[in-house]
Amino acid sequence: MAKLGYPFTLGVASGEALPDGVILWTRLAPEPLHPARPGGMPAQAVTVRWEVADDESFARVVRSGTVTAQPDWAHSVHVRLSGLRPAADYFYRFSVDDHVSPAGRTRTAPAPESTAPVRFAFVSCQRYEHGYFTALRHLADERPDVVVHLGDYIYEYGKPKNPGPGRYVRPLESEAECRTLGAYRDRYARYRMDADLQAAHAAAPWVALPDDHEVRDNWSGALPGDGTSPAAFAKRKAAAYKAYYEHMPLRVRPSGAALQNYRWRPYGRVADFMMVDTRQYRDGADMLGQEQERWLTARLTGSTARWKVLAQAVFFARRAFPADPPSADAWDGFPASRERVLAHAPDGLVVISGDVHNNWACDLRADWEDPASRALGVEFVGTAVTSMPGVTDASAILARNPHIPFFDGHRGYVSCTAGMDGFRADYRGVAFVDRPGAPISTVASFEVEANRLRRVDL
Ligand SMILES: [Fe+2]
Repeated sequence: MAKLGYPFTLGVASGEALPDGVILWTRLAPEPLHPARPGGMPAQAVTVRWEVADDESFARVVRSGTVTAQPDWAHSVHVRLSGLRPAADYFYRFSVDDHVSPAGRTRTAPAPESTAPVRFAFVSCQRYEHGYFTALRHLADERPDVVVHLGDYIYEYGKPKNPGPGRYVRPLESEAECRTLGAYRDRYARYRMDADLQAAHAAAPWVALPDDHEVRDNWSGALPGDGTSPAAFAKRKAAAYKAYYEHMPLRVRPSGAALQNYRWRPYGRVADFMMVDTRQYRDGADMLGQEQERWLTARLTGSTARWKVLAQAVFFARRAFPADPPSADAWDGFPASRERVLAHAPDGLVVISGDVHNNWACDLRADWEDPASRALGVEFVGTAVTSMPGVTDASAILARNPHIPFFDGHRGYVSCTAGMDGFRADYRGVAFVDRPGAPISTVASFEVEANRLRRVDL
């Protein structure tokens, strides 16, 4: 084999932290957008070395080995580490020939009995064309214990014919919407060449859920929503999920058009993260599908953690619009499913959501209209990293929904601290995304008190 060019152009990542292990990821791509060969790689297997150290300078390497990058998987690698210490920072890097990757920092989950606070951030909706991922650079600087991604990691859209003013600040190479494995791979590669996105992956382990745009806008269950047949859509979805897996530090591979996204990630006695798939199993009025709903109900009622963090993509609380019908692409389109979930709401329920490209905070309660009705938990809806637009004037929506006390129009992410004695969410907003270098600030903060929101004076 001819000597490779520098292959770590897409950075490194880790994810799916457990108390004793994580997944380490990289993908070899000397020419990430090569028109003929994925990543500009030869069609043959390549051996990749990996090292894990206790310290940032790799003076104390605690684990090392090799893994084979296969052309069938776009030369991505997923190293499954176990036997690590809980709640510990580790540093990792890869090498091929004499090329060495940047180092990443990861962190294992705490031991089951741990009561130490958990710091996490959640993000969603990073449309490349819409702006710079500056928020992700600030998120990286916070070095949280874990980053939760709630979907729309990529957008499948092609370059629009009339992009309109102000919104298309970073043009894509491709005019066409992603439909094939090659196109999805190129889209992930384009995103992963971004230094801010690489920094966020290198700073902390991620646990990620895809929403619709990893495949196609507003797809639902078996229905593509674009008039193509379910069989053609299944083929496209298989390509999309394969490319997603090839670029994400996941524990499980997709199986054809199916990807097991719902899963449970415990963080000591403090927080259970319940990752819920609100896209693949929709069927008529059913949001989750019977099997996933049974699983979720068992987790909600069985969890003994202080906080039950229900991580999912779309707006959960009622959000009545004054004139328009309710959104069919949120839980408002599936009210019976929502009622069944809320019927099992445990003490300490915190729903986290994305999708709508604005910040919101909601009280979940037995009667949306009645502040005195039983408090069932809270929902923090996080804004987009870059994607636009969301709602621009929320005043009529806020007036119509007394359980929604907060709206904000910044781009950014949400930074949270969960502890045995409290839960705090800080909405972090960047000043702009149409050029690099935006400063960040906390635009609002909330605590959870007796399953209700309490705004913190800043
Ligand atoms: Fe989005």
